[in-house]
Amino acid sequence: MTGLPEWAVVGPERRAHVERVASLLSQWADLMRVPAIERGRWLRAAWLHDALRDAPLVNEFAHGPLAAERAHRDGERDRGVLDAVRYHSVGYAGWDEAGRMLYLADYLEPGRAFERDERSALAARVPVDRAAVLRDVAARRIAQALRSGWPLPAETVAFWNALVAP
Ligand SMILES: [Fe+2]
Repeated sequence: MTGLPEWAVVGPERRAHVERVASLLSQWADLMRVPAIERGRWLRAAWLHDALRDAPLVNEFAHGPLAAERAHRDGERDRGVLDAVRYHSVGYAGWDEAGRMLYLADYLEPGRAFERDERSALAARVPVDRAAVLRDVAARRIAQALRSGWPLPAETVAFWNALVAP
């Protein structure tokens, strides 16, 4: 898959975000010399993750699960790719590399307006220090969620606990 699925409902800004996420994952895959099959999994997750984000009546919490269900109906059978898409907003302790890399790229892609320098430094460290950057990004994302006053989803708590487990 080298683009959005045909059923995607995304505005121009969302499309640009998805393209930047795919491009960052592609750069990391090159630098990390991952096999082509693994690189393809990361990119499928990238193109799918926000494919329904701008669909009517779809909210922040529903768009990942809905896109995963649609992708599955469409023939995507890779459990790791589907879990990457399903849980990309909240985190998931059961992720493989596709989920972890998408979670990083979604937050570290260069188009987001906040903390540009810090995020760019983190993005540059991903190929050499992935585990530490993942903990840092999760801590930042969870801190944001706490500040917003929303309850933390159980998946997020389990994800964090798995990251810091000895
Ligand atoms: Fe999303």
